[in-house]
Amino acid sequence: MAKVTGLEGVVAAETDISLVDGENGHLIYRGFWAKELAITSTFEEVAYLLWYGQLPNTAELEAFKGQWVADRCLPEHVLSLLKLLPRETPLMSVLQTAVSAMSESQYSWPPSVEQALKITAVLPIIVAYRYRLENGLPLIEPLNQLDHAANYLYMLTGVIPEAAHVKALTAYLILGMEHGMNASTFAGRVVSSTQSDLISALTAAIGAMKGPLHGGAPTEVIAMLDAIGNKEQAEDWIRSTLEQGGRLMGFGHRVYKTVDPRAEALRQVTARLSSEDPWFELAIHVEAAAIKLLDEYKPGRRLYTNVEFFAAAIMRAIGLPSALFTPTFSIARVVGWSAHVLEQAAINRIFRPQSVYTGPMPTEQVSK
Ligand code: SDX
Repeated sequence: MAKVTGLEGVVAAETDISLVDGENGHLIYRGFWAKELAITSTFEEVAYLLWYGQLPNTAELEAFKGQWVADRCLPEHVLSLLKLLPRETPLMSVLQTAVSAMSESQYSWPPSVEQALKITAVLPIIVAYRYRLENGLPLIEPLNQLDHAANYLYMLTGVIPEAAHVKALTAYLILGMEHGMNASTFAGRVVSSTQSDLISALTAAIGAMKGPLHGGAPTEVIAMLDAIGNKEQAEDWIRSTLEQGGRLMGFGHRVYKTVDPRAEALRQVTARLSSEDPWFELAIHVEAAAIKLLDEYKPGRRLYTNVEFFAAAIMRAIGLPSALFTPTFSIARVVGWSAHVLEQAAINRIFRPQSVYTGPMPTEQVSK
């Protein structure tokens, strides 16, 4: 029986967009340390870097931000969809449906930065509108003087967000923007390799992102910490989960065999926001206990904290409900997805890996 590898170790493409160095715990975006960009740059600047390959100068950034604001408008038929979809529809399914409805002729092949910008600009609007509709609240229109991260928080609450929250969310969004050949990016590249359009590639990526082993993990991290409840119960809860073959959400990574650098950066940002919060104290305690016990139960697997553990902490500290965690991750990652779709579109080669047939061979003619 062929071992199911999940394409572990298989190189699917060469890319200039990012380097995920799993042994040393480094993340590089187009030649810059992602951790530094998260502290020094805006979401718009890093999106420009990932799409165009270099940081914008002042004039380029001003023009780019102007286009960004101009693209903050949702087509009427998509808004009608947000009002029409049943209340119990999961938000990631709403996102996938709304994005797939954006496929007017302006998103036809080949994909472009202009198309990527339009989708990136409206994704927070789709999430915020649907969130307000689900909670019976009036829709909040974009505030054009606010940047991408601040406007998202504003459209969720109707209140101008605190600078510390905008800074923390911007750091999270920048660190979540891009991560090489992860499952959702790979899904988007496969679709783009068939010369299908950007919208189809992004709806495939959103579908992959939804899974709890990928982008769905932060919500599960909150559920795990709520189930543990307090420091005294942490070790027993973790032991019992591992003994039953369960997984600790927010730990382990296919590439990082040391602490995920994004988790490190987000831990520091969250500590500045939540140092007095007993929940954050519990999170830090659970993290240490989990790493110790993962080494005990899974020796040699090198299972450490991944980005999702502190993504959950930071989004909780900002006051985002856990239903918005994976949609917020998607608001960030759509930049990386579209950068890879653009890169793939320039390669005229369809993805078509092999499979190993393990079924029976024919022994007799099919009797009519
Ligand atoms: C993201 O790829 C990316 O870049 C993803 C991402 C991105 O930015 O796009 O970084 C975002 O998806 C981060 C991961 C979020 N998911 C979680 O936190 C869910 C919990 N983590 C795991 O399910 C797991 O670690 C994965 C899915 C992240 C990685 O899985 P792998 O590399 O396929 O590892 P595996 O399933 O082959 O496990 C190897 C061993 C197994 O034990 P054995 O069968 O060999 O005895 O390690 C164990 C697993 O049981 N293991 C865990 C574990 N992760 C792996 N055991 C307990 N808890 C865990 N979290």
